[in-house]
Amino acid sequence: MTLIRLEGVSKRFGAAGPEMPAETPERPPTTYYDRMQEPEFLAPPGLALDGVNLLVRAGETMAVLGPSGCGKTTLLRVIAGLVPPDAGRVYFNDQDVTDLSPAERRIGMVFQNYALYPHMESRENIAFFFRIHHREEEIPERVRTVSQIMGVGFDLLLDRKPPQLSEGERQRVAIARCIAREPSVFLFDEPLSNLDAKLRVKTRAEIKRLLRRFHCTCLYVTHDQSEAVAMGDRIAVMRAGRIEQVGTFGELYDWPATAFVAGFLGSPPMNIWPAQADVDSVLIGPLRLPMPLLRRPPRAGTPILFGIRPEHLHPDDAGPIQLEVEVVEPHPSEHALLVHGRTAGYPAVAKLPLSAGVPRRQIIRLACAPADARLFDACTGERLP
Ligand SMILES: Nc1ncnc2c1ncn2[C@@H]1O[C@H](COP(=O)(O)OP(=O)(O)O)[C@@H](O)[C@H]1O
Ligand SMILES: [Mg+2]
Repeated sequence: MTLIRLEGVSKRFGAAGPEMPAETPERPPTTYYDRMQEPEFLAPPGLALDGVNLLVRAGETMAVLGPSGCGKTTLLRVIAGLVPPDAGRVYFNDQDVTDLSPAERRIGMVFQNYALYPHMESRENIAFFFRIHHREEEIPERVRTVSQIMGVGFDLLLDRKPPQLSEGERQRVAIARCIAREPSVFLFDEPLSNLDAKLRVKTRAEIKRLLRRFHCTCLYVTHDQSEAVAMGDRIAVMRAGRIEQVGTFGELYDWPATAFVAGFLGSPPMNIWPAQADVDSVLIGPLRLPMPLLRRPPRAGTPILFGIRPEHLHPDDAGPIQLEVEVVEPHPSEHALLVHGRTAGYPAVAKLPLSAGVPRRQIIRLACAPADARLFDACTGERLP
């Protein structure tokens, strides 16, 4: 089994750096909260990877989760050897593979668009690699084994060409083609995004079953957090070419390292409101929340970011948080009512019991337990201890 280690891997595309004309020479310094609203917060143009360090344990499935353009595909392509990094090294176990060709790395890669040869039957798509490597004699056995692994009904697909297959079937063939080569590392790049919701859930269970069976080291890239949770033993959250945090979903959800991770995970994600620390409370605009649990209270008046998950806000007639209701959304399957609106002028959402029955266009009062609040540095976005 293969352990994958990236050390300081960077990649920038196109003209960038000092040659770039400075359009706005002196930009006023902005806060983390303000930057969070800008598109470049998620992906500055051309900067694909910015000093990425990552360790994927042998046999583990690491989900890589991040917004579009944050560098996920480039990360996979660097690991596969399809894109040379500008800086940094890639190791498989103790071997530095940075300068090895893709063929020398024993990688199986499944893309969003499958990249099957459209004029070849599935059988030939699976066999092609062995044919061009003069390993013809292995083909019948490889196809038979992989067909068994893929399970019921797969043999019916073998004599059809991609245009005669459904999206889901094409995906199965693409995965089978990968498995047939017995890769030491599996890379998936948003492999389910062309499938409808129901098939997506079914196919991801199938992929998981296959990965279990092989104990193969795997990176699974997606922008969909439910997919990342379902597939990943651990999740690496990416933003703007960097890995923000690595951990199990529970770790990331409960103890986000940055306000970005907090505001990215969860549906809906954590509320993040600019605030000010006081000795034993937090000020959000005109609202004062008692916050006695601050382990290391920042100096009074220090700007911070206050984070609270929608499900940690409770209706309380004497509660310090006022939510100006704009939209109410019932979610019967979760027995929940999502109440969207504003708190101290900032976007806010609360997940209340379905029975709460909130009328539209009014102000409701909410409270939260101090232990459920997460505070972040207003400049760096890092969680305060
Ligand atoms: N071949 C390329 N040429 C130029 N820019 C690229 C190329 N590939 C990716 N980029 C840029 O690198 C950044 C990261 O892209 P990508 O890795 O595809 O992100 P993701 O897969 O997370 O959506 C984006 O700004 C993208 O425009
Ligand atoms: Mg991509």
